[in-house]
Amino acid sequence: LGHNLKFHETLPSTQKEAHHLAEDGAADGTLVVADEQSTGRGRLGREWHSPMGTGIWMSLIIRPDIALHQTPQLTLLTSVAVVKAIHDITGVECGIKWPNDILYNGKKIVGILTELQAEASHVKAIIIGIGMNVNADAADFPDELKKRAASIKSLTGREHDRPAIIQAILKHFELLYNTYLEEGFEIIKLLWESYALSLGKEIYARTVKGDTIKGLAKGIDDEGVLLLETRDGTVHHIYSADIEII
Ligand code: BTN
Repeated sequence: LGHNLKFHETLPSTQKEAHHLAEDGAADGTLVVADEQSTGRGRLGREWHSPMGTGIWMSLIIRPDIALHQTPQLTLLTSVAVVKAIHDITGVECGIKWPNDILYNGKKIVGILTELQAEASHVKAIIIGIGMNVNADAADFPDELKKRAASIKSLTGREHDRPAIIQAILKHFELLYNTYLEEGFEIIKLLWESYALSLGKEIYARTVKGDTIKGLAKGIDDEGVLLLETRDGTVHHIYSADIEII
């Protein structure tokens, strides 16, 4: 993975670039990295703040032979790889808020955006975008992000080596991905649960449709879908939502 590396000083979005490359047939494991993004994209159509030189802005193209409905599993797998990599290189132990926000003390350090290229029900490529706040100073965040986001430097008080973190992400991703392809999702699910911040807690889930459901986060199913139990005992299957831990 990552042997085919496309590095850019600046790009509108590594995610957009990776989509183009994948459509043009880029090999499995192609990695696009930029030092700055002018129009970084987040989940649910949001912007992603990606200033020059302080973060990791990258998108990985993979071409697994899996069914469409299995793709959320790879999102969860990626978040496990990223948490392990941060711990290896910086010593910081983050947790995961379903599906794949990586937090420390309630503040977001990393966001992951998984997107698909598919034909009928066959996956042609998965584009995994990772945005990590590494060396920004707390004061550099725009005001609206200060309460919700943090960088690793703001936690440890020192700068961290971005290429070393990228390498560690690729190493862990590759190990977990091979395990996944050979043995399935079971082990990945257990690992993900060991880092999960929301399980067993009362949460609000705001769905893409705009509904808010309050309930108990019971767990995830074998495909990575969140199981949310409301007071009347109904278990809702949440495929995509924003979670707030109450
Ligand atoms: C989220 O909303 O939490 C996901 C954020 C994903 C951001 C990354 S940065 C690299 C890649 N390129 C983009 O434009 N977005 C993703």
